[in-house]
Amino acid sequence: MSAPRRNVELKALDPDPERSLAVCRELGAEDKGVLRQRDTYFRARAGRLKLREEEGAEAVLIQYDRPDAAAARESRYRLTRVLDPDELRASLDSALGTLVVVEKERHLLLWEGVRIHLDSVTGLGSFVELEGVAPPESDLEPEREKVARLQRELGIGEVLTDSYSDRLLGAEALIAAAREAMGRAHAPYSRFHVGAALRAEDGSIHAAANVENSAYPQGQCAEASAIGVLVAAGHGRVLEAAVIADSEAICVPCGGCRQRLREFMPLDGVVHLCSASGERRRATLEELLPLSFGPEFLPR
Ligand code: THU
Repeated sequence: MSAPRRNVELKALDPDPERSLAVCRELGAEDKGVLRQRDTYFRARAGRLKLREEEGAEAVLIQYDRPDAAAARESRYRLTRVLDPDELRASLDSALGTLVVVEKERHLLLWEGVRIHLDSVTGLGSFVELEGVAPPESDLEPEREKVARLQRELGIGEVLTDSYSDRLLGAEALIAAAREAMGRAHAPYSRFHVGAALRAEDGSIHAAANVENSAYPQGQCAEASAIGVLVAAGHGRVLEAAVIADSEAICVPCGGCRQRLREFMPLDGVVHLCSASGERRRATLEELLPLSFGPEFLPR
């Protein structure tokens, strides 16, 4: 058995993929083109196990393990070539169960041994990922230095600690909580049932539904109810939100609720707009409420 391979890696949200690509080109990174990949994650007893399928390439089974830390970190992994991905996927799904499927377009660039991934992930948005692949004898210092240099050049600030699969699973849990709350709406007048779920800064989920009133203007939107639940639980920040209605079309928050969210949510926070029939769309709060007014405008 060979020793696991190692690299130093880092991931962040990419607010401007075109600019990132321009920076990579200026640095003289080699452009390896755009890859279309589908990763199927299986329920593993330890670490992570995924089948990677890529258009025009051989499939690989990837086993890896890595600590979640908010910095460039070491990752150990094993790759196994797969000749029959359909059969392997079916076998592992039967034996272990599928956790989540991540689909993405990856623009791959190479710079001094560092793999640069400009990723567009279905349902999640755009990210930049850096992987300094280490030769076996490396103490990882050169890889760390190169990744740090690229981090500066690309203007990467906050580093993400969770994987795409974690993010997708987190979004699924949030949407499921909103859907469950929607089932408890009090909406006898409009018969439009809405559920909203908010993720607080500690990862906890707070959900509620719209509550109507026979004196119509006294009714309350689901988002307003959910904010009340979150605040009552002792939180003051919303990192991610989901809104769902029992309709064919996705539910978009009303203008008033966009402003309500603005009080607690960063402008780059994501709102999942969902329908009971399974339609989805994601938008940042800034996309929903451009040029907005918030607490920072008021004197302290
Ligand atoms: N509603 C929400 O709960 N959230 C929104 O953002 C849009 C509208 C509710 C309010 C009312 O109970 C019903 O949908 C019809 O307007």
